[in-house]
Amino acid sequence: MKKLKFSLSILFLMFAMAAFSQTTLSLHTDQAKTQISKDIYGHFAEHLGRCIYGGIYVGEDSEIPNIRGFRDDVIGALIDMKIPLLRWPGGCFADTYHWKDGIGPRQERPSMVNVHWGGVTEDNSFGTHEFLDFCDLIKAEPYINLNVGSGTVQEASEWVEYVTSANISPMTDLRKKNGREEPWDVKYWGIGNENWGCGGNMTPDYYADLYNRFASYCRGDLYKIAGGPNVDDYNWMEVLMRKTMRHPHLVQGVSLHNYTFTTGWTDKGHATDFGEKEWIAVLNNTLKMETLVNRHSTIMDKYDPQKRVGLIVDEWGNWFNVEEGTNPGFLYQQNTLRDALVAGINLNIFNNHADRVKMANIAQTVNVLQSVILTKEDEMVLTPTYYVFKMYSVHQNAKLIPANLETGTYELDGKSVPAVHASASTKDDVVSITLCNLNPNKSESVDINITGNDFSSASGQIITSENMNDHNEFGSEESVNIKTFEVSKPKNGKLTVDLPAKSVVLVQMK
Ligand code: AHR
Repeated sequence: MKKLKFSLSILFLMFAMAAFSQTTLSLHTDQAKTQISKDIYGHFAEHLGRCIYGGIYVGEDSEIPNIRGFRDDVIGALIDMKIPLLRWPGGCFADTYHWKDGIGPRQERPSMVNVHWGGVTEDNSFGTHEFLDFCDLIKAEPYINLNVGSGTVQEASEWVEYVTSANISPMTDLRKKNGREEPWDVKYWGIGNENWGCGGNMTPDYYADLYNRFASYCRGDLYKIAGGPNVDDYNWMEVLMRKTMRHPHLVQGVSLHNYTFTTGWTDKGHATDFGEKEWIAVLNNTLKMETLVNRHSTIMDKYDPQKRVGLIVDEWGNWFNVEEGTNPGFLYQQNTLRDALVAGINLNIFNNHADRVKMANIAQTVNVLQSVILTKEDEMVLTPTYYVFKMYSVHQNAKLIPANLETGTYELDGKSVPAVHASASTKDDVVSITLCNLNPNKSESVDINITGNDFSSASGQIITSENMNDHNEFGSEESVNIKTFEVSKPKNGKLTVDLPAKSVVLVQMK
């Protein structure tokens, strides 16, 4: 009898724990000092599929409403989302791109074959002037990726001179002849892309030497970004840091690329057709970003203890199988509530590592991989990922609040992920907390304790939906977007919020 009573009370305890799982988030607002760079909220646009052509640029003669050939609707949406920065022209495309083919009168520009992406012919109608004009229109800072794989040092140094120099020189004369008198203010320059792979299949030693050479001839007050490792290639980071830090003035950033697949490169999984097994698999895989940032930062700390060199995560996001009936080389995929959770988790990770992560660029802005925008002819869809970027924009240039998160786990299929993921920041006397509930079945109660300030009011926003694979479709009402989320008033530095299952939430206090 005693045994039965004991088992019943254990069962009751387990039931109670399952029904009322509890998370505690302690925020130390008085210790907020590291700035979250706005550039963590950056984006990436490559000459790939329908990202540039059709997605951003339709040409001046298009019937789709446009300004100088750039889609009105896309410009408006990116401004609303507060896009801070855009990387271009690739990606793998960058190491095949010869910038002089993309300047001057459009009808005289030579065409090329986009060998990496679908083998389609590229007419070079979108080049340097168009990219920088587009950045002006969307009020984003430009980040240009130079060609190391198939380009020359001279070609790279001339591109920098053409864009940024105020001197009188052959390159600035050429720029002026092409209609641009003043130099552009372009600070960020990437020197090669994935040079361990599509950018030349180099060894880290060879690339690091090449980097030093290219960087020496790209002159000016620039923020130069070295092509960093693929995912967990810690040796690449080690060699690159060791060799480039012999000339510290030549390197300001090192990139890192990491994509999230359902299982792996050979089993990417479907973007919309998935169950709970694939839900947790994707969340579990994307959480590896935390380990990557930690371990790469530890190597960087060895050579750069002052954390002067930024870790630039200039390609990240979900990579699923292409939508049926689309060109496999165009990487077009839909975007669900699961993508919203992936975006929320990664942005929280970058915020929490703001001392080292100075920029991140989700791949890619329109119609490619985990896009914020999808277009079909003259129609436009804003994806769940778009709404996460819009919601999280409150963190741009805010101060990171050190936080302790105590949370349980959500488990399935031998996988275990934290129930809640969070980050917090403060700007203009407002505290902003972004929270993700990873569990698709259960709400989670979060006790927030704040030290260092007394707050009297709170407000909230939420992104969630009935089903985990809900997404926004052309020609239909949006299923996933931002809604108001009711929160009670904070009392004596404490606030409890109930996070609905599978949700991304913003709580703001002042
Ligand atoms: O974003 C698609 C591709 O992924 C990029 O071109 C390349 O850098 C990466 O492998």
